[in-house]
Amino acid sequence: MAKPQQADCHVFTPRVNDSKPTRTRPAMATLKERFRLTKEGSTKETYHVVLDLKNSGIEFNVGDSIAVFGQNDPLLVQHLLDAMNASGDEIIQDSRTKEMLTLRTFLTHRANLARASSSFLKLFHSCDSPCDKSQLDHLLQKENKALLADYLQKHDPLDLLKEYRDIKLPLQELCNLFSPLLPRFYSAASSLKAHQDEIHLTVALTSFTHAGEKRYGVASHFLCHLAEEGKTPIPVYIQSAHSFTLTKDPHTHVIMIGPGTGVAPFRALMQERLAQGHSGKNWLFFGERNRNTDYFYEEFWTSLTAQDKLRLDLAFSRDQQEKVYVQHKMRENARDLWTWLQEGAHLYVCGDAERMAKDVDAALHKIVEEQGKLSPDEAKAYVKALRTQKRYLLDVY
Ligand SMILES: Cc1cc2nc3c(=O)[nH]c(=O)nc-3n(C[C@H](O)[C@H](O)[C@H](O)COP(=O)(O)OP(=O)(O)OC[C@H]3O[C@@H](n4cnc5c(N)ncnc54)[C@H](O)[C@@H]3O)c2cc1C
Ligand SMILES: NC(=O)c1ccc[n+]([C@@H]2O[C@H](COP(=O)([O-])OP(=O)(O)OC[C@H]3O[C@@H](n4cnc5c(N)ncnc54)[C@H](OP(=O)(O)O)[C@@H]3O)[C@@H](O)[C@H]2O)c1
Repeated sequence: MAKPQQADCHVFTPRVNDSKPTRTRPAMATLKERFRLTKEGSTKETYHVVLDLKNSGIEFNVGDSIAVFGQNDPLLVQHLLDAMNASGDEIIQDSRTKEMLTLRTFLTHRANLARASSSFLKLFHSCDSPCDKSQLDHLLQKENKALLADYLQKHDPLDLLKEYRDIKLPLQELCNLFSPLLPRFYSAASSLKAHQDEIHLTVALTSFTHAGEKRYGVASHFLCHLAEEGKTPIPVYIQSAHSFTLTKDPHTHVIMIGPGTGVAPFRALMQERLAQGHSGKNWLFFGERNRNTDYFYEEFWTSLTAQDKLRLDLAFSRDQQEKVYVQHKMRENARDLWTWLQEGAHLYVCGDAERMAKDVDAALHKIVEEQGKLSPDEAKAYVKALRTQKRYLLDVY
């Protein structure tokens, strides 16, 4: 695997003194440790990633996320340089920050290489070239907007450069068209009280097929594969969770629903509660695909249940014919869940927003309705009240 580029001093504006790291002036962390949470034979790749925060000025609370600026895959960058007929040493200006960077640095750290806009096509169209531009003519006609959108959905900047490799493009103008590479967020999976100067992350590797080739998500690939232990600088800052915070009341019960990487903040939350000696009860609903390969942090959870500090319900969706999800476990334990809520429990949900959080919400409404013997409207009002009392908290993505 190609090595990531070591960030040069031009890539991020250094922080001034001890100022708080921000998006424009991030701190530099390094990778301290990384291991795969999913065992051999798993259908997915999820990693435990430990970042060293020593001297970074980073502080965070349980529930916060860390924003990570990843690097584009060096192989993809090399393919782009080849298609541009460039060495990578050419100096260009980042039109947003006005810094002068090598083309390779710009493509590695600054540019979103996954998306091309219509401006790319317009630039290709406007350049002198003997090559056939009839497709560009067609796509850029006003009445072909839907066709253009479909084309841009399926073709990234590398595809365009390859398709129109005979067109000689002005490098600076081309660079001006890339959208910026944005940071990605990862929930803190550790508490500073348990792991000083570190932040632990639970990162699922994103992968997909593009133009018949396997590609990875930028930041998850960077964190799970590319970043080198103790070497690669990782620009980071904290994204505070203003509402997804641990209750300050040590006696309050906590119900945590976190399938997949959604379990991350609950590892942090339990570490914090243990460090603070909270006496409130804790209940975790965790789900993944298969118990043998995808049971993240099994030792931690089972040691807590053995000490009577955690109630644990597990939903391994692919260990049987019928899918079993966390919301099914909630429904199975509806009576106790209702009792905990009536006793003032706070309920936290973290993970997939698209499907899981909606289904968990529907299950919660059903439980409240059935156990509380309420009408659907009354159950809705009950859940709404949980929200306004900040007892039903979501961190979904
Ligand atoms: C508050 C918050 C907390 C989060 N916490 C966590 C966490 O704890 N753990 C975790 O793993 N994630 C977490 N996430 C999600 C995380 O931020 C990233 O979105 C995720 O890791 C994917 O980022 P990436 O850079 O690897 O992928 P990206 O490069 O952003 O790609 C993501 C998706 O875009 C599509 N895509 C991109 N390029 C192409 C292309 N050329 N062709 C076709 N499709 C393409 C694919 O569908 C791909 O799956 C969190 C998100 C938020 C907002
Ligand atoms: N949009 C998508 O199609 C899609 C797919 C996967 C992941 N993701 C995203 O990828 C990231 C990482 O995902 P992840 O690794 O944390 O785990 P995940 O893919 O969310 O899966 C974790 C567990 O949740 C189960 N699950 C699936 N649908 C569910 C539902 N409706 N209700 C409850 N549980 C459900 C999964 O089962 P099964 O997989 O067996 O169904 C699996 O057992 C997240 O950002 C997630 O949103 C998106």
